[in-house]
Formats: sequence, C-alpha cells, structure tokens
Amino acid sequence: MDPATSITRAKATTPQGTCYRVLMWEPCALPQECREAWETQRRELLGRMRDAGIKGARGLLSQLEKELKALTVKFIEAPLTQAPRAAFSFARAEALGEALQAHDAVLAYRLGTAAAEVLMQLEGEETVADMLTRWQAATPDMTWCEQPIVQAMSAADAVAWQAECDSEEVADTPEYTSGEFHHVTVLLHEAVEALQPAEGKVMVDATLGGGGHTEQLLSAGAEVWGIDQDPTARAAAKARLSAFGDKLHVVAGNFRNAAEMLRKHGVEQVDGLLADIGISSPQVDCAERGFSFLHEGPLDMRMNPAAPRSAADIVNTAPEGELADILWQYGEERASRAIARRIVQERAKAPITTTTQLAALIASVLPRKGKQHPATRSFQALRIAVNDELGALEALLQSGLSLLKSGGRFAVITFHSLEDRAVKRYFEHVCKPEIDRPEWPAPRPNPAYAARLVYRKPITPAEAELTANPRSRSAKLRVIEKL
Ligand SMILES: C[S@@+](CC[C@H](N)C(=O)[O-])C[C@H]1O[C@@H](n2cnc3c(N)ncnc32)[C@H](O)[C@@H]1O
Repeated sequence: MDPATSITRAKATTPQGTCYRVLMWEPCALPQECREAWETQRRELLGRMRDAGIKGARGLLSQLEKELKALTVKFIEAPLTQAPRAAFSFARAEALGEALQAHDAVLAYRLGTAAAEVLMQLEGEETVADMLTRWQAATPDMTWCEQPIVQAMSAADAVAWQAECDSEEVADTPEYTSGEFHHVTVLLHEAVEALQPAEGKVMVDATLGGGGHTEQLLSAGAEVWGIDQDPTARAAAKARLSAFGDKLHVVAGNFRNAAEMLRKHGVEQVDGLLADIGISSPQVDCAERGFSFLHEGPLDMRMNPAAPRSAADIVNTAPEGELADILWQYGEERASRAIARRIVQERAKAPITTTTQLAALIASVLPRKGKQHPATRSFQALRIAVNDELGALEALLQSGLSLLKSGGRFAVITFHSLEDRAVKRYFEHVCKPEIDRPEWPAPRPNPAYAARLVYRKPITPAEAELTANPRSRSAKLRVIEKL
C-alpha cells in the first residue's frame, strides 16, 4: 500500500507463534471485472489444490499456492492500490484504526483509501473470524468484502512486517486533494479580540477548519483545543500549525458533542469558545465533495465523509413532502414543492447522482432571475440537512456555557439568517436577568440567566474585508461572556 495514502502503525507487541496477515477491502473499491476474475479463477485453483492435497502431490501443491498468491496480487492487491479514493474513506479508516489500536492481538496495520492490511496473532480461543466480526462491529458503516484474504506468517516474518510498518512514514493525508487548503478566515481580528486570548488561557475552536482563528489564538499564547469533523481540515490545520507543538490539540468529531469530547481529554472548563459555523472554501471548491453546483461532482455534501447520509441519499430516497420541507425550511425556497415534485419525477427514471444534474433539474423548474443561480437556495438547504447544521448549532449553544469558566467568552460567527436567528435568540435568552409574560403580574427571575452580551449588535465585516473577501458578506459575529 502506498505510504503516501495510508495510515500505518506498528505496535510494540512482539509477535509469538503463528501470526496472520489479513487483507480486507470494500467491494466497491474493486472493479467488477477484477472481482469476477478473482472469484472464478480462485475457485478453480482451490479445486485443483484440493485434488493435489488428496493425492499428496506436495510439489504441485506448493506450485498452486504460488499461483494463488499471484492471482491475489493481480486481481486484488494491485487494483486496490489504484482504487477510487472515495471507496474507503480516510475518516472511516480512522474509525477502523481506533478499533485496531484498542485490540491487543493486533501487531501492526496499514489502512489505505481502499483497503486495510492487518497483522495479528490469535489469543486464547479467538479465531480469525472472531477478530473480523469484532472489527466489523466497530465500523458499522463499512461494507466489507465477504472473504478477506488471510495468510499465515511465521513470527520472524511478522517481526519483519512490523519493522516495515514502523519505517513507513505515518501519513495524515487529506481525503481530498484540491491543491493547497486555502480558506480566508472571516472576522479574524474581531473574533480574536473578543476572545481575549493570552498566555495561560485555554480556548476551544469548535470549527478548526484551516486553523486561521486558531493560529491567532495560539500566537497570543493560549492553548487551543481545535475540533473539526472534516479530516481534510484537521490535516491541513495540523500541518499549518505544527510550530505550536503541544499548545494545539486537534480533536476529530462533531462540535455538538464538544463538552463530552473535551471532558474525555480531561478538559472541564475553558476561557473561550469560538464557532465559525458553516463550510470552508476548500470544501466548497473541491468538486469531489459535491457542495457546489458550479463543479461537476458526486452529490455528497458531507463535511464528515463518514457520516451516514449524503445529499444523494436524501434526494433519491426522501419522500416528496420531506424534500419540500427541507428546501423550504433550510433554503427558504419558495418553489420548494415544484422542485420536490420534479426531483421525484426524475429519480423515478434514474437516480440523481451529480451536482450538475440536480442543478440543471432545478433550473428547469425555476428560471434564472438576477445574478443568483436558481439552485443556490436548494443546495444550501440540502447541505444544512445533510450535516444537520442547525441541530449541531443548537446543541453547541445549549452546552457551550457549561464549558466556560466565569468570565469566559463564547463567540459565534454565522453566515445565514437561520443560524444567526438561533444564536441571537439563545444569547438574548441567557443574558436576561428576568423574563416576563403577559399573563404574569410581574417579571420573574430567568433560571437560564448566566451571561452578558459583549456587543449589543452583531459585528459584521468592515469594508476592507468585504472587498478582499466577498464570501464574508453575510458573516455576523455575536459574543457573550459568562457571569
Ligand atoms: C468556516 S470553516 C472554519 C474556518 C476556520 N475558522 C479558519 O479560520 O480556518 C468551518 C469548519 O467547521 C467545520 N464544521 C462545521 N460544522 C461542524 C460540526 N458540527 N462539528 C465539527 N466541525 C464542523 C467544517 O468542517 C469546517 O472545516
């Protein structure tokens, strides 16, 4: 497996007795002709091996074993190294990596974008099949090949294999290669100033992205926990900020679980929490990620490539009413019903699988008016639904204050009215000492009162930023301080 596109780990455990190398892959990672040739030729070879075994023809048996090995290389191992990147994503490889890391019987492993090779030894009564069942249970969203290749290996060969893994560079390769990771940070100085970073302070950047805000927080002396659900962003930020060493901790996950994730790392309360909601430029600009109707790509839109539901899943399976609701609620698309009806008609003929296919279909329902492409609102709506963006934001708002020390600040940058409305409503709610209702004779103390508004009005980009980065035009920053 190519070390430039694989995660390789060797453990300190010394191999003892017979070891096993297991090669497994996702069926979609192999071209159909390879799978078919492998199945038929292997079946035929195994038949001949059985006959040779019955006759005790040792010479022939070892010759056939070599042929079987060559067959595996030709139809499985070689094609897997050229397999399409999307077949076995890095994020899912990471999930498998965690399961393998926790399993004592595993001695070393290489996880690529299309296949996994694992070196292991058996313990107690455990069989190879038990091991496979265990790893499969840890990676429920993966579909494994039915018959992984299992080769027995002497302890000496296993030591050599481990050493090979040890010497390979550990890659943290971005899932998607759209050239340099280039995201222009929005409201950089305004957000950093509001968070007041300094030596000795601990901050959380819940949307690490390319690390633009985090870099400034680190430069001011703070320690930063950077969360992102996108492996490409994490890899880019790690590379960009490596000079800050252990002042930066990169955490994989969804910020909806920020408090629990940090607690697991022993972090209870911090001095600042930043969320720069939404997607990064590399996510939009990379055609393979399927966020943009301007680039032909798979209809995907997942920020976390391991998430279970892509835009194509929604477009091709959601009932018409649900589709219309998504377009209306998250895109404020007035033609939501007509677009949903058209999608359902089209998908009955053939699945809708690409961004440009969907964009053309929407454009056929909704003629272009003005500068905006007719698919703009629908694509936004689908993206919000795929990533449950409003649900994640609501969860972060609800748990954010509990993460902060007294005097700690919570800053949120949003890019559209639905998000800003949620932040505004929540921030105003926790900043009111009292609440009142028409049916009450007098205002009552607000049990949620826990913060003060740092700015009465949202901060928006200055003229210079708007000119330099038109994508910042809808950004709004709101900040509160815990009492
Ligand atoms: C606008 S970018 C952040 C850019 C960053 N502030 C910078 O200056 O480079 C938003 C990032 O947040 C991530 N993100 C969005 N929603 C998330 C969520 N619910 N959990 C974790 N990461 C999320 C995206 O993957 C993306 O990388």
